[in-house]
Amino acid sequence: MHPALALIMFKHKACIFDLDGVIVDTAIYHFKAWKRLANKLNFDFTEEENEKLKGISRVRSLELILEWGGVKKTETERLQLATLKNDWYVEMVNQMRKDDTLPGASEFLKAVKDAGYKTALGSASKNATIILKKVGLLDFFDVIVDGNQVSASKPDPEVFLKGAEGLGIEPINCVVFEDAIAGVEAAKAGGMKVVGIGSADVLKDADLVVAGLYKMNLEKLEKII
Ligand code: BG6
Ligand code: MG
Repeated sequence: MHPALALIMFKHKACIFDLDGVIVDTAIYHFKAWKRLANKLNFDFTEEENEKLKGISRVRSLELILEWGGVKKTETERLQLATLKNDWYVEMVNQMRKDDTLPGASEFLKAVKDAGYKTALGSASKNATIILKKVGLLDFFDVIVDGNQVSASKPDPEVFLKGAEGLGIEPINCVVFEDAIAGVEAAKAGGMKVVGIGSADVLKDADLVVAGLYKMNLEKLEKII
């Protein structure tokens, strides 16, 4: 397709990307930092439990972890623990390098930009901008909505609706890319199409599920929007 024609066709359509688990593989760093915190509090934290925290905010994740460990803390203590976990997490994230992204992520982002789609980030993470800078992808996004701008966590659609609003695109013309069940629910609740990243058995409500962005292309995208 001629690039000028593509720009006219797709300028009213958007792709909104979750970050962790879609563009970068940070779940392992979250896991290591939460495990270190749980161990410090004398209980363990498993990979299965970590799975349940995908798409869940830092504060809510900590509440769940303390519940699982059977530990009660005051609000002030919880704030200190969340800060400690985040310091450990950021230490690891700071080691990330340019192109330290999941397979196909940079290529697909470039392809949708070149095709004229608008792009936004819709992430629960308050570290989203640092991470995108580290891996060299910040400039691929027209709008960034992250944990610093939203008050309601996924499955509430706020993060994606703010992304669509920032781009000036109707939700029905947005496709969300999500690896978390809560994120797929959030996109659906916002009236958007969703591409699930992971397994179809888990992300049952997605319009299409692919193993990773390396399995995505413009043809598949155009079919669902
Ligand atoms: C989401 C992750 O993207 O961000 C969650 O899937 C994480 O696991 C949440 O808890 C908040 O991240 P951060 O970087 O603000 O602690
Ligand atoms: Mg995610």
